[in-house]
Amino acid sequence: MTLEVRALNKLFATGADKSVGIKDVAFTLAPGKFFTLLGPSGCGKTTTLRSIAGLQEPDSGYIGVGGRPFYDSSRNISVPLNERGIGMVFQSYAIWPHMSVAQNVSFPLRVRPDIKLSGAEIESKTRKALAAVALEEVYDRPATRLSGGQQQRVALARAIVAEPQLLLLDEPLSNLDAALRETTRAELKRLQRQLGVTTVYVTHDQVEALEMSDEIAVMNRGEIVQLGTPKDIYLRPVNRFVATFIGTTNLLAGSVLDAVAANGIGTVRLANGTLIQSVFPAKQQAGAKVEVSIRPENIRISAKRAAAQDGENLLHGTVALASFLGSMNRYEIRCGDLLVQTSALADAEFPVGTEVSLCFAPRHTAVVAD
Ligand SMILES: Nc1ncnc2c1ncn2[C@@H]1O[C@H](COP(=O)(O)OP(=O)(O)OP(=O)(O)O)[C@@H](O)[C@H]1O
Ligand SMILES: [Mg+2]
Repeated sequence: MTLEVRALNKLFATGADKSVGIKDVAFTLAPGKFFTLLGPSGCGKTTTLRSIAGLQEPDSGYIGVGGRPFYDSSRNISVPLNERGIGMVFQSYAIWPHMSVAQNVSFPLRVRPDIKLSGAEIESKTRKALAAVALEEVYDRPATRLSGGQQQRVALARAIVAEPQLLLLDEPLSNLDAALRETTRAELKRLQRQLGVTTVYVTHDQVEALEMSDEIAVMNRGEIVQLGTPKDIYLRPVNRFVATFIGTTNLLAGSVLDAVAANGIGTVRLANGTLIQSVFPAKQQAGAKVEVSIRPENIRISAKRAAAQDGENLLHGTVALASFLGSMNRYEIRCGDLLVQTSALADAEFPVGTEVSLCFAPRHTAVVAD
């Protein structure tokens, strides 16, 4: 089902005339899509999710699923949470310790007034949901006799057992160790595709967001600052916050040479006079002070004074720091007054002091606003 959120506001007073919460949150999500709210702690992810679920009344705005309003402040509509047909996994996952796995998973089928099923039907749906998270064998087990990862999968089974039209997942992998997180991430994505259920996923982990999502909304201080595909977000961050929150990047300060239209390629003059060709996501006037963002992995490092080719950008410098990261080496290159981070595969080594050239394509270089 399509999920539509418009101009959603929810503010919590914190005293001294200050308030936090969410401001004008808006997005439209096509049926079956995997959508992620990504941002630092306190940016409003859970508040957004709880508003969609009906666990919390917003101050104003609109939330609709499949064209049906769940919440509309202008018409005084607020559908109770148990009528919204939503499956949810909470941030602090709660499976009930006094119940068996089967009782936990079947809970939504047993308490929802609109679902009337026989005992056999409940058991069959419960087994199906457990099979979807590869946990059929623990059906009868007490819920506490499970590992943290299994408990999170039980919470997930419970969220999908009633075949929700919308799945809301608030940091569902937060309690897993790094290795389990990675495998569960892949499983979860596969499951979501297989069910075809429209999903809103919340995380502060950028790797998770990039890997799993069809679309990402990056949030900061209660607002969506950028909405786009993982590639958009990573390669065309709209501002400094997004560029630095998502992965590592080099930010080179300079000024715009000639006016450039939105999505055009233009030239930025760095403080040391070097000219850099870059994508301009938004239009800029000549002389505007900007920063260009270039990711370490998009810079090609070579141990000679290379000449720029095919319109590539070129910097010359000296290796100031070399670190071995296992699969790759990371370098800091001093280019006059600039310090540029770059990485290269581990078999290419450039010891400290080596004179190197750095080449990077304009299409990998993006102007970011403040
Ligand atoms: N019930 C509440 N009363 C007062 N303030 C609240 C309440 N719920 C959330 N807040 C505040 O609203 C802001 C957004 O909170 P929210 O829980 O949505 O953040 P979050 O992005 O989910 O963060 P985290 O990643 O830490 O879970 C925070 O500053 C939080 O302190
Ligand atoms: Mg939260």
